[in-house]
Amino acid sequence: MNILILGSGGREHAIAWKLNQSSKCKNLFVAPGNAGTASIAQNIPIGVNDFEKIEEVVLKNAIDLVVVGPEDPLVNGVHDYFLNNDKLVNIPVIGPQKAAAQLEGSKEFAKEFMVRHNIPTAAYESFTVDNLEDGYSFLEKLKAPYVLKADGLAAGKGVLILNDLEEAKQELRAMLQDAKFGKASTTVVIEEFLSGIELSVFVLTDGEGYKVLPTAKDYKRIGEGDTGLNTGGMGAISPVPFTNADFMNKIHERVVKPTVEGLKTDSLPYKGFIFIGLIKVGDDPFVIEYNVRLGDPETEVVIPRIKNDLVEVFQAVAEQKLDSIDLQIDERTATTVMAVSGGYPGAYEKGKEITGFETIEDSIVFHAGTKIENDKVVTNGGRVLAVTSYGNDFKEALKKSYENIEKLHFDRINYRKDIGFDL
Ligand code: AMP
Ligand code: GLY
Repeated sequence: MNILILGSGGREHAIAWKLNQSSKCKNLFVAPGNAGTASIAQNIPIGVNDFEKIEEVVLKNAIDLVVVGPEDPLVNGVHDYFLNNDKLVNIPVIGPQKAAAQLEGSKEFAKEFMVRHNIPTAAYESFTVDNLEDGYSFLEKLKAPYVLKADGLAAGKGVLILNDLEEAKQELRAMLQDAKFGKASTTVVIEEFLSGIELSVFVLTDGEGYKVLPTAKDYKRIGEGDTGLNTGGMGAISPVPFTNADFMNKIHERVVKPTVEGLKTDSLPYKGFIFIGLIKVGDDPFVIEYNVRLGDPETEVVIPRIKNDLVEVFQAVAEQKLDSIDLQIDERTATTVMAVSGGYPGAYEKGKEITGFETIEDSIVFHAGTKIENDKVVTNGGRVLAVTSYGNDFKEALKKSYENIEKLHFDRINYRKDIGFDL
């Protein structure tokens, strides 16, 4: 099989690393990819939202399967583009069609979906500029902290959590009236604050059957002790140690099953990953968000724990035979620690040479923001490398990730020293 992966992060490098291990994978392409994917696949310098270029690449290279990494092309309808094109219609795409991608593309859509299918989530109401005053009244009825969410995609920045009522009202106005997040905040969802520990569950579905993949927890804040600005993720652990069988069963019965059933009932075709962001309130799971793709850096700990041939698994999704797959999960814990550019998530420089790869022992280095320049690997983004390790528990795995990340060097390298501190 010739396979094309869309994306350029650590998630896409991890998917490429796994697909590349399959004897069924003949030629592997990543668009646009990074320096890590260049070492195991052919990178193609096109954008993930340039559907016409993607079509050209797919036809030219006789691609048999397309795996979509990030949410943007899914929300923009890349899967539908294939289905509506005579030359592409028989090439399977892993990732939902536009209609179901609204689960991530619109917070209001996702909340309505959860309410319709009795899936536990925080109470909410949504507002536009036309009922701003009602938004203020709703805020007055809630207790602090106040959770405001821009309805649309806002590059992970669209959620505000505020302690002060007046500030919450100001921000609501900024979002609705002053387009603080552009079009993404034309509608704002205000919801009840839930207090608990967060975790994520990943589900792979072919639209009929589904498999629950390993759980993971990521560390989003830049600073130690979960302080400072939000990032795309500074590290991750799989499985999360605080989920016992009883809690997993609740997630299964109350969340995963009704989600997959709900997609069917609502006629939302779905072949791909569902990333369910959860919060454990007492002993009960509540859904915070859906994403219609794998997480980054969660993928860098989830994919390495899947023992199956991933090409076979994706083929089964395409043929709607996922039920025939016996999913095998590695019992060990996997951890990853992200090395980021100094200054990230604010302004940072690119083009810094990265050294030390040859000294890594017993860890896998997944590349995120890297590229090759004059035969050297240089930084090319905020999140640069994810150092993944296995262990019998998360402490053992983290020890290896930290021993190895210290051997990697670039100007102003930064990473959190306390991944797993709260477990
Ligand atoms: P989201 O983009 O919806 O995942 O929200 C970003 C982050 O905001 C989540 O990872 C949570 O840490 C936090 N958050 C979102 N919704 C709530 C809520 N209802 N209660 C508490 N925290 C929340
Ligand atoms: N790590 C969070 C995300 O991928 O959205």
